[in-house]
Amino acid sequence: MNKIYLIGFMGAGKTTIGQKLSEILKLSFIDVDQYIEKKYETDIPTIFKTYGEERFREYEMISLKELTKYAIVATGGGIVERKENIQLMKKGVTIYLYASLSEIKKRLKHETNRPLWNQTQKEVENLYERRHKMYEKCADIIVNTNGKSVNRVTERVKNILLHKYPKIEA
Ligand code: S3P
Repeated sequence: MNKIYLIGFMGAGKTTIGQKLSEILKLSFIDVDQYIEKKYETDIPTIFKTYGEERFREYEMISLKELTKYAIVATGGGIVERKENIQLMKKGVTIYLYASLSEIKKRLKHETNRPLWNQTQKEVENLYERRHKMYEKCADIIVNTNGKSVNRVTERVKNILLHKYPKIEA
């Protein structure tokens, strides 16, 4: 079966849904951000603060390439910033977990740990608009998560995947 990549903006639920999906489908799972933090032995805000975003993108690209043995991959919101990443994800199935910006604002109300979220409102809005178009273009499947519980979204993703790959649970 093809690899499953979960893409979408910060707060879309990529990690939570990916984790849950992997439990239900009994498939291996990895979160790119968690992999980066382990590999480089530092947390993401520190990478941004110490070396800047470009260095983080470099780490992100190297890491995505290394994650060959996992079936489900939860990416970071900026994975679409590098063409090489998009090319690589094209080999698998890419699922865009869509959430509107107002929904994300509710979800990330108390967030302080994501460097690109902690910018001005205008910067966040511009980033969201730009990225939304990139996710749409990159995705094979788009799932709307607005107002839906983690269980409902996971169920929806699972059903879509089972329809596409009936042998997934065999
Ligand atoms: C980023 C999103 C974050 C993390 C980093 C950069 C982005 O991941 O990779 O802070 O550029 O949107 P999440 O999407 O899991 O928050």
